[in-house]
Amino acid sequence: MSLCNSDQFYWLDRVGTGSTRVRKVRHKFNSQESACKEITPDASSMFDVRCIDAVARSNHPNIVQVQDRWADQWPTPKVYIQMELCYGDLNQYIEATREAARTSGTPIDHRAVWKIVLQIVDGLTYAHELGWSHRNLKPRNILAKANGTDLFGVPQFTWKISDWGLSPTLLPPPTVDEPQTHIPTSDDVYRAPEHRHSPSAAVDMWSLGCILFELATNGVLAFPVEAEDPTYVIDNGKATSTAAAKMSRKTPQIVTDPSGHINRVLSLCLNPTPAERPTARQLGVYIRGILGQ
Ligand SMILES: Nc1ncnc2c1ncn2[C@@H]1O[C@H](COP(=O)(O)OP(=O)(O)OP(=O)(O)O)[C@@H](O)[C@H]1O
Ligand SMILES: [Mg+2]
Repeated sequence: MSLCNSDQFYWLDRVGTGSTRVRKVRHKFNSQESACKEITPDASSMFDVRCIDAVARSNHPNIVQVQDRWADQWPTPKVYIQMELCYGDLNQYIEATREAARTSGTPIDHRAVWKIVLQIVDGLTYAHELGWSHRNLKPRNILAKANGTDLFGVPQFTWKISDWGLSPTLLPPPTVDEPQTHIPTSDDVYRAPEHRHSPSAAVDMWSLGCILFELATNGVLAFPVEAEDPTYVIDNGKATSTAAAKMSRKTPQIVTDPSGHINRVLSLCLNPTPAERPTARQLGVYIRGILGQ
């Protein structure tokens, strides 16, 4: 925890939308601009501080750099995570490509999809091999950083995974004595069947499969779940009926996939048995083969 505090910054506009508050900030002395996430600690916000600090010490192009963290006690207890300022998130990208497809018939560019997925996979490989799993991987936690333009003047982006160590899934699972009903959120559509009971690195590979499906279909969810779905109840901490429902569903298939690579990776990542999913490193090798790298 640093000696930094919120008074050292000018607090500018909110960036993006989401469950917590992220603001653009400018340091009063060196004018450096960052993004700062403000979290109100409560029972549902548990942090893996070691993971946050490990991210702060690390340096990988596909992981959003944490620059500092601190807590303020006054006027109310808050935790702040200062990080590199990014441009937008993958959810916004998917919405923009869907709009382009709707208005001008732009087809899905599979090569562009693989290039994005490969960057997420490279970030996961680095993190998983250091022993961290994300557990809340979803398009809104994958951020774009502008990275110049290509030869034709088209803007280029580096994709980075954000919010390591902030997963609310670190909450203990419900016990037999304390059964708990889970209120579904939009994040649940990315969660692996075993998520709440044994959230290993393999849960991130499941989420990656869901993200690949969404990218390759211009925004169709792999496993849509209705909020009022009565199966969404945690069953005494042993198994969820949602998990059972996910396992019994067939892996969704991409209709337009002449190469077969997308459907193959989907069936690997969305395997209900975590141990049978590929590691991030294995998937990286496969995708580099597709891209001829
Ligand atoms: N470092 C950043 N730079 C620029 N924009 C950011 C940054 N971090 C977050 N954002 C924007 O803020 C939005 C909200 O982020 P936040 O993490 O609060 O919500 P969320 O990802 O939906 O929820 P959570 O991660 O808590 O499950 C993101 O979708 C993104 O657009
Ligand atoms: Mg987030």
